[in-house]
Amino acid sequence: MFKRLPGDEARNLVSTTPDTAVVFRPAVLKTPAIVTFVIHGWRFLAALVRTTWRHPVAVAVPVAITATWHYSGWPLAASLSGIVILALISWAFIDRPSFARLVGFRLLAWWRLMSVYRRHWHGVMDVSGLAKRVNGRVYMPRLLRVTCDGWADRITVRMLGGQAVKDWSDRIDNLTQGFGAASCRIALIKGGRLLLTFPRTDPLASPMPALPIPDEPTVGPVEIGKQEDGKPLRLKVHGTHVLIAGATGAGKGSFLWDTIRGLLPAMRAGLAEVWALDPKLMELSFGRELFQGRYAADPADCADLLDEAVTVMQKRATRFAGIQRSHTPTIEDPFVLVLVDEVAFLTAYQPDRQLRQRISAALATLATQGRSVGVGVMAALQDPRKEVMNIRNLFPDKIALRLDESEQVDMVLGDGARDRGALADHISPVPELGAGVAYMRLETSPEPIRVRAAYVSDADIRAMVAYHGQAA
Ligand SMILES: Nc1ncnc2c1ncn2[C@@H]1O[C@H](COP(=O)(O)OP(=O)(O)OP(=O)(O)O)[C@@H](O)[C@H]1O
Ligand SMILES: [Mg+2]
Repeated sequence: MFKRLPGDEARNLVSTTPDTAVVFRPAVLKTPAIVTFVIHGWRFLAALVRTTWRHPVAVAVPVAITATWHYSGWPLAASLSGIVILALISWAFIDRPSFARLVGFRLLAWWRLMSVYRRHWHGVMDVSGLAKRVNGRVYMPRLLRVTCDGWADRITVRMLGGQAVKDWSDRIDNLTQGFGAASCRIALIKGGRLLLTFPRTDPLASPMPALPIPDEPTVGPVEIGKQEDGKPLRLKVHGTHVLIAGATGAGKGSFLWDTIRGLLPAMRAGLAEVWALDPKLMELSFGRELFQGRYAADPADCADLLDEAVTVMQKRATRFAGIQRSHTPTIEDPFVLVLVDEVAFLTAYQPDRQLRQRISAALATLATQGRSVGVGVMAALQDPRKEVMNIRNLFPDKIALRLDESEQVDMVLGDGARDRGALADHISPVPELGAGVAYMRLETSPEPIRVRAAYVSDADIRAMVAYHGQAA
């Protein structure tokens, strides 16, 4: 038998002793006005000291102008203000990057904090369910800091005790819509703090033409496009293996051709070779002269070429054993990149069982032992399911272009990638907007990054063939 008291039920504590049901209602304490006043006064003082400590010049200048006005009159104060404004404008013209870093982005961060994040914080936290109500009290995650650069706003947040990153990553859509951003990325800093990144512009919104062929031969990371923050995208191919997955028309070809383009001077100098497997006959055949006979389209020829790559790898391993543990490309031992377009045609969809097993075994051998002796694999496919590509975990670096289903994202990029913002299933199917756009997850950095590969046209490929034909 419980006796209910009307109203405020959430705060009632009910003893469950039978018969004598007792209802406790905690006394409602009203904070005395003086205490509220002292708390607010203290907060104001703390904010003043903090601001002066963090931005001494920004505080000193208005104080000096006000003091001048007070002691010497407005004409001198106005002249002083004019000098300050002129100095700022000259600084912006003379050294734009330092002006932007020290003044522009700080002002922008303050403006974004006031006009967007602080203004909508409580509403967005409450509606998205990230704020918690316990016994009538609302616990709100704390907005600690906002910084800006030319590309994005970054906000540091303290999660509520007991919250996990997943609680936030499940609400990426709420945060994106709530703060009027185009997307949102979440990364754990430490100590219960998160960094939320809200891009303000999208440098990947329009296609990019092919990048210039590098001047120097290199097998180092090759520049193939742009990252989401506008910085160049450099893809490591030597010393790793790369898996590229994307629905039909997603732009897998761009990643293959951009890589070949970046390696072209090294190929011409004899420091790199690209061996091409093109079972669909549609992609790599266009520039087959570049592969100097190492090109196969028929599945049986592909199997032979893969076996040859395994032999090269094993011979090198025998020679290098006990002498060197990593590979430096030379004319005798060039970097060999085995490019496989539509790898599923050679594995899962190959009707000849023996051939299928031979190809799968060769690919697995290359992917497990090749990288330290300078043999890399870059494979592209449409369907990333394990039944189709059972060795996908052997590729340290992964690229997910537009995918049809959200579950495919983690299949390509690894567990939790979609939760961290790799929304490859949201990439636009309109070629202008989404072809060549991808999320990359590298062995060296588990955070997925959004990128776009430059578009290598047929004319560019013809120019590459001509370049390769010229003497080095
Ligand atoms: N980086 C890019 N930037 C802009 N548009 C691109 C880019 N890459 C490809 N496209 C456009 O998308 C079309 C399809 O590209 P691509 O053939 O590379 O796709 P795919 O993923 O290889 O498809 P499939 O699996 O059918 O072979 C191209 O014809 C081109 O118009
Ligand atoms: Mg293709």
